[in-house]
Order: sequence, then structure tokens, then C-alpha cells
Amino acid sequence: MRRKIVAGNWKMNTTVAEGIELAKAVVAVKDEAKAGVELILGAPFTHLASVIDAVRGTNIAVAAQNCADHEKGAYTGEISAPMLAGLGVQYVILGHSERRQYYGETSETLNAKMALCYANGMAPIYCIGENLAEREAEKHFDICRKQIEEVVFNLTPEQFSKIIIAYEPVWAIGTGKTATAEQAEEIHAFVRNVLKEKFGEEAAQSTPILYGGSCKPSNAAELFSKIDVDGGLIGGAALKADDFLGIAKAF
Ligand code: 13P
Repeated sequence: MRRKIVAGNWKMNTTVAEGIELAKAVVAVKDEAKAGVELILGAPFTHLASVIDAVRGTNIAVAAQNCADHEKGAYTGEISAPMLAGLGVQYVILGHSERRQYYGETSETLNAKMALCYANGMAPIYCIGENLAEREAEKHFDICRKQIEEVVFNLTPEQFSKIIIAYEPVWAIGTGKTATAEQAEEIHAFVRNVLKEKFGEEAAQSTPILYGGSCKPSNAAELFSKIDVDGGLIGGAALKADDFLGIAKAF
């Protein structure tokens, strides 16, 4: 049985006070989620300490949305993996399309970030996915393969055993336009096969692959009914505890 995971990516939303309120609201409803579903809250850097406090004593985990590609030093404005680990952060979202697109994140910087994430005892939620032009040109398989090969293939089997992968087609993010369950399953199964080439059948079969892109309570059940869709990485719908819960009930 693979892990079932619903992770929220709050992106650059909420003040600290609103974030604490949201985390507490998720804590209040968490027991209504489907049994065994792991919940992760991906909060902005400024919120992490308070959100970790708000979920303390529960099995809800907390993720950062990025980390620096250096361990420490003269990198003004950056937040390092050791800083995050020191707070009790368990996961780091890496390679999100918004970071690739707006902040020039490349496989090279992502390799450095992944290494630091693992070296500090955290696990990555590694995002892949094609944009609209790439989908229309039927390049989505190639793009996802490249994003996996250039980064995930550099992991040791031990590191790989802790990764969470999120397939997020860029054309579905924040657009209200979801991939169909069939489109999601097609790519998830493909990605699992690519992972198998490098890490073997057993390791590939145990890797959680989440879907992200306008996932909401009304479409989550259909997406999660697919054999290779192990949960979701949720943007907009993670900003309301009831919607987030609705998704966590959808398995
Ligand atoms: P939306 O759920 O808002 O489309 O965002 C998805 C996403 O980018 C999660 O990382």
C-alpha cells in the first residue's frame, strides 16, 4: 500500500495570523479525513515556526516552499535548509513551476537544493510538469522525463525512498482547468515507469506521486480513484480548511 498524501501549498498567501488560524482550523477537522491520509501544510517561511506550533502533537507535517541552494553564508535574503530543519520543518517543496518559471530555477540549482534538503533530514516534494505549449506540442512525456532524469536520478536509493513527487501541469495551476483523471493517470503511470528504470520496480511502486492543478473537493475523488494518483498538492483549495478537508476525504 502506497502512502496517501494531501499537501497544501499556500504559496504567497495569508498573513502570519491568518496562517495560524488556517493551521488551527485544519487541526480542528483533521480527524474527519480518510483514515491513513497524511496531511502536510506548505506555509510561507515567515509562518513556519507558528504553524509548527499550531500542529504540534498532531500527525500533520509542515513543508517549506523552497530552500537556498547553499548551506550558509553571504546570500542575502535566502533561507537555508539547516534553518528550516532547525524549526522542525519536515518537507521542502522543490522545483515548483512558479519557481522554475519566475525565479529561474534549473536542474542544477535543484540538485543543490535537493542535496541540502536531504543532508538536513528533510524530504523533498519534487514538482514536475509541462506548460501549455509543451502539452499542445505533445512534449509532456519528454518534459517530465527530463525533469526526473536531471534531478531525481542523482539521488541514492536511500534518498529516493523518502521523496514525494508532484505532477503539476502548468496549464492547470490556478486556472480552474484540471487535468482529466485519465490525463493525470497517463502521466503518473509514465513517471512511475521512468522511476522504475533507475530505482527498480519495488521502489517505484512505493513512491507517492501527487497531482496538482486546480484540484478541489469536487474533482479530487475522480483523480484519486486512479491507481497511480496517490493524492494531491493543493494550491487555492488549501487556503480553506473545509476545502482542504474535502480533498482529504476524497480517497
Ligand atoms: P492550484 O490548486 O491553485 O491550481 O495550485 C496548484 C499548485 O500549484 C500547488 O503547488
